[in-house]
Amino acid sequence: MASLGVNIDHIANVRQARRTVEPDPVPMALLAELGGADGITVHLREDRRHIQDRDVDLLRQTVRTRLNLEMAATDEMISIALRVQPDMVTLVPERREEVSTEGGLDVSSQRADLTIKISSLQDAGIPVSLFVDPEKGQLQACRDCKARWVELHTGTYAESNWTDQPAELARLIEATALARSFGLRVNAGHGLTYQNVEPVACIDGMEELNIGHSIVARSLAVGLQQAVREMRSLVQNPRREPLFGSYPG
Ligand code: PXP
Repeated sequence: MASLGVNIDHIANVRQARRTVEPDPVPMALLAELGGADGITVHLREDRRHIQDRDVDLLRQTVRTRLNLEMAATDEMISIALRVQPDMVTLVPERREEVSTEGGLDVSSQRADLTIKISSLQDAGIPVSLFVDPEKGQLQACRDCKARWVELHTGTYAESNWTDQPAELARLIEATALARSFGLRVNAGHGLTYQNVEPVACIDGMEELNIGHSIVARSLAVGLQQAVREMRSLVQNPRREPLFGSYPG
């Protein structure tokens, strides 16, 4: 059964909209844990548009589940990770002009560089996950770079319409099986919502789903603890009947 990593970047987005001190993502992470989060994820971006260095330092001291630090594979970020010692680093592509992470990392075109960076983190006891599209070539490259984990990009699945969603889900299922046959452990995330998460949570071999926007959005209506509780229940007890397509009958 998959576990739930809660991404709290959007809480910091609200704070940074006013460059003030509230809402503070650090105590909100504790609320997410009280709601059942199995881990907390933050993305420290090069431009510091939401999560700040101080958040990462404090979260390292306060998170009682697991802290997953998402970051670009830059020298600056590697040295921050080595100092902070998160429980996992997820390497993602980063472009300043993007609203959010737009696609998977192109691991195959930067194998040599990534291999060195991954080993510097893993040798320091920090497992590395690579955020990639569900494609065979990328998964082979992840294996070649000796990453321990991959996070499959679910954005295309999440954005597809009802007609295309079964095929996108099939790609995720196939990629999960392939990654595991390579000895990689598998997480997934991006764009997952209360409406589309269950089929992904049913994938055999899927270990953790990282979900942010949808949970933070729902928390405005029901509070963060309850929003996390509801999402975790879908992730842990997903309906197994087909959810796609037409109205019943
Ligand atoms: N996983 C990765 C690698 C991401 O970059 C993001 C977005 O920051 C997420 C998961 C969470 O995506 P969402 O906010 O759409 O749930």
